[in-house]
Amino acid sequence: MKNFGEILLILVTSLALLNALSTTRSLATSDTSGNDDLVNPTFVNDTSAVCLAGNPAAYYYSKGFGEGISNWMVYLRGGGWCMNVSDCDVYIGRKGVGANATATTFVNLLSRNKEKNPDFYNWNRIDVRYCDASSFTGDSEMMIGNGTKLYFRGARIFSAIMKELLNNGMGNAENGSKNALPTSCTSRLSPEMCFFPENLQADIQTPIFFLMSGFDRIQIQYTMMSEEFDTCALGRNCTSNQIKIMQELRCELLSVLPKQCHNSKKGILITSPYGHTQVLGPSWYFSAAGTGETIEKFFAEWYFDNKGDVKVIDENPCPYYNCLSN
Ligand SMILES: *[C@@H]1O[C@H](CO)[C@@H](O)[C@H](O)[C@H]1NC(C)=O
Ligand SMILES: *[C@@H]1O[C@H](CO)[C@@H](O)[C@H](O)[C@H]1NC(C)=O
Ligand SMILES: *[C@@H]1O[C@H](CO)[C@@H](O)[C@H](O)[C@H]1NC(C)=O
Ligand SMILES: *[C@@H]1O[C@H](CO)[C@@H](O)[C@H](O)[C@H]1NC(C)=O
Ligand SMILES: *[C@@H]1O[C@H](CO)[C@@H](O)[C@H](O)[C@H]1NC(C)=O
Ligand SMILES: *[C@@H]1O[C@H](CO)[C@@H](O)[C@H](O)[C@H]1NC(C)=O
Repeated sequence: MKNFGEILLILVTSLALLNALSTTRSLATSDTSGNDDLVNPTFVNDTSAVCLAGNPAAYYYSKGFGEGISNWMVYLRGGGWCMNVSDCDVYIGRKGVGANATATTFVNLLSRNKEKNPDFYNWNRIDVRYCDASSFTGDSEMMIGNGTKLYFRGARIFSAIMKELLNNGMGNAENGSKNALPTSCTSRLSPEMCFFPENLQADIQTPIFFLMSGFDRIQIQYTMMSEEFDTCALGRNCTSNQIKIMQELRCELLSVLPKQCHNSKKGILITSPYGHTQVLGPSWYFSAAGTGETIEKFFAEWYFDNKGDVKVIDENPCPYYNCLSN
């Protein structure tokens, strides 16, 4: 595996892996002893690919060497979103995205130190600065009251940086991520769509267990782009309209759940209490949607007792107890 060029694209908060395999064999070179390196920013050539405040977007690049010379890792930084003009204005100052990028130190997964980063130290490593406040998706600009502009150019930043990287060596990696996706999906949908669980899951042969709240906190926040749902769900005082909207999102989730009797053993447990990341949170030991067991036990039984497909959905259409009493 080490002999093939690869591209690993890491998106913080949601995770996407792109493996691009290349047949390029590598040269054995030295420099495995380095310390964490201080890396200067590269400003993108495309002058329309700008940060929220209009300053140039940038990325950091540390060249691969030795066996890693044709492997590429692109780390896309996270950093949240801003919600409206005044919030974006505050965001610029709070996150420092209005200032030009300055040198940064590559550590951990980006380090060129073999001891610290044994598997990836010699890859081409790229750290993409996050300065668009819209997860590399926007492509517009907006005049705000007093003659200044906000730029939502994340999508341009992403494609400008990818273009530069592809022109500067990443293009030599041979096979893009679509080859790592099941052809049973890519034969009927575009590769991008085959990243989404609802499209991909049917083709997964390995047993897989889906555990999620029908009122998932992050899904609601990111879909509705408003704090009001979080505030009322935590305060247990949502209006009937707010509940209705959340229930519609829940229905949408239920509608894309895997069908039973596919080619692998599937477990599905959809809970109702408002929350997120149940595996590592306290709710792992909460009751599993009226089954009389904890989630922990429910999962273990599915896994060890060869139960085949199980599907349990909490019938309570409420993110908290008695949610329709307001
Ligand atoms: C890349 O894809 C081509 C065509 O599908 C295939 O022949 C080749 O073996 C692949 N290379 C690697 C390293 O997987
Ligand atoms: C803008 O968004 C922030 C953060 O969500 C919020 O606190 C503020 O009230 C909003 N302002 C307006 C004018 O909507
Ligand atoms: C920011 O960097 C760009 C590109 O190198 C440069 O043109 C611009 O003058 C810099 N701005 C400041 C404020 O340093
Ligand atoms: C315009 O308004 C924004 C937001 O209030 C402020 O940060 C900025 O300094 C103002 N710019 C000018 C030129 O007055
Ligand atoms: C930016 O453009 C210049 C001039 O066309 C070119 O020489 C340089 O290689 C480009 N930089 C990158 C990182 O692609
Ligand atoms: C809902 O409850 C929260 C927390 O108790 C409180 O801060 C908020 O003002 C309440 N909202 C309404 C609309 O009553």
